[in-house]
Amino acid sequence: MVQDLLLPILKHEQKKSGYISEAAIKRISIQTGIPVSRIFGVATFYSMFHTKPQGKNMIEVCHGPSCHLNGSFNVLKSLYKSLKIKPGETTKDKKFSLHTCSCIGCCDKGPAMLLNGKQYTLLDETKLKAIIKKCRS
Ligand code: FES
Repeated sequence: MVQDLLLPILKHEQKKSGYISEAAIKRISIQTGIPVSRIFGVATFYSMFHTKPQGKNMIEVCHGPSCHLNGSFNVLKSLYKSLKIKPGETTKDKKFSLHTCSCIGCCDKGPAMLLNGKQYTLLDETKLKAIIKKCRS
């Protein structure tokens, strides 16, 4: 069934373009016969998909229960201080996008985040500053 292919199609589109644009959703709808509303619903339901252009560096801070208890809010505060963006936003220079995500599987080392898919754990302000500085250089 063509609906079963929707997730792989959206993953491919995001990998190709960096995000899933409105034009891409319309094109996929025409190609597959899946209604635009259904595609948009799937693209906005999963946090791994983005419907707006993203920054060069994608930060995803885990907001699972363990990381929450270990200070993920402080991680977001530190990132806000450094980057001046909140979850769901991209820096003006398009270098960073910030998101929250569900558990990334390293609960014993929280707070944790993904940066371009790579795990960073036991985060504190010093570690975050070093990570951001390295990305900027
Ligand atoms: S809750 Fe954050 S890694 Fe599991």
